[in-house]
Amino acid sequence: MVKVDLSGAAEFFTSAGPDYALAEMAHRTLSQKSGLGAEFTGWLELPQRILDGELDEIISAAEKIRSRSSALVVVGIGGSYLGARGAIELLKPIPGPGDPRIFFVGNVLSADALCDTLDLLGDVDFDVNIISKSGTTLEPAVSFRIFRELLEKKYGTKADEHIFATTDAHRGVLKSLADEHGWETFVVPDDVGGRFSVLSAVGLLPMAVAGIDVRRVIEAAISEFKALDLRSPENPAWKYAAARQHLYGKGYEIEILACYEPSFRFMAEWWKQLYGESEGKDGKGIFPASVEFTADLHSMGQYIQSGPRTLMESVVRFAHSRRTYPFPFEADDTDGLNYIAGRDIAEVCHVAADAVKEAHISGGVPNIVIEAPMRNEEGFASLVCFFEMACAISGYMSGVNPFDQPGVEAYKKNMFRMLGKPGAV
Ligand code: PA5
Repeated sequence: MVKVDLSGAAEFFTSAGPDYALAEMAHRTLSQKSGLGAEFTGWLELPQRILDGELDEIISAAEKIRSRSSALVVVGIGGSYLGARGAIELLKPIPGPGDPRIFFVGNVLSADALCDTLDLLGDVDFDVNIISKSGTTLEPAVSFRIFRELLEKKYGTKADEHIFATTDAHRGVLKSLADEHGWETFVVPDDVGGRFSVLSAVGLLPMAVAGIDVRRVIEAAISEFKALDLRSPENPAWKYAAARQHLYGKGYEIEILACYEPSFRFMAEWWKQLYGESEGKDGKGIFPASVEFTADLHSMGQYIQSGPRTLMESVVRFAHSRRTYPFPFEADDTDGLNYIAGRDIAEVCHVAADAVKEAHISGGVPNIVIEAPMRNEEGFASLVCFFEMACAISGYMSGVNPFDQPGVEAYKKNMFRMLGKPGAV
């Protein structure tokens, strides 16, 4: 389980402190499936269901792709790609020998980005994983048509064998197309919304193709969700949810999620969707933003230290780094750095993080530390389960339905009207 340290936030709390009674109620509502959006809480049981269900098929599809292709094109947007990208960049930022490259497309409408990827795929063998629950989202649908054409040019009548569709089990354009063409399909479960779907085939197939041990992820996630069922203020999900809601009530309306590992960048993007889409509604919600330390201390550090005091900071730290690098001693010390010679870069980073924490607290920024054990399959699973659980509890604490996203439709409606889609008004 992750550990949550609120010592850097405590001085910003009122004497009553975070409302653990409300966190307890929110947790009960979630586990009894009696709250708003309860029909979308299947993610709580997802790891066990996947282990008993699709996991073997996902792993064998991934092995097929890995044995014949040097690239996988993952077509999807929002919850249909951010989790997989977060996992792959966190755990496999540099592909190992024999690992296919993973390209994420269909998450923008950029002709430049599209053409760059098409150019890169010209000469290589590749497969496509189209991921769309509805099957009708414009961005992935546009890319999918184009990458299908490329597959057809490359593989002719065998093109269909290179397409894997992850979509609704029964409905939608993509499901119909998959049935018509005989594409191998995986399911986006009915009771799991996109942003909670990373531990389904949505996240697991691209992760497995990238060489991540998804069985380890799923086994760890099963234990994590069990551990996170703890009904106590010691539950890290309660601590995080209750602390951020308490701070929000005091005017800290923006939460920056920071990490000292650059490979965390897309996990932060996944987190932003999870929290932004779950909580930003009914005129309320903490605005989720992210920063990469120490890099952003040289760009955003000034604002964080001395800008408007509406920021709270949650810092993801890994207790152990995967690699070590003792800083070298140099006899003439021309760069004046011998004072850190012999210390590991990871240790220097920990000291920097402590220094930043002290500075930001003194500048008026409440600090929450979220510590995961390590940047590996278990560490990833612990972060995912923790953030999902805390998000649901936090959303229920604030009185919203954490599992819908009605606001996302507004731009689509306008776009379809402006593009002249038949029937759009
Ligand atoms: O969380 C969500 O529901 C959204 O981000 C969706 O995942 C995203 O809009 C993509 O939708 P679809 O999978 O239907 O293409």
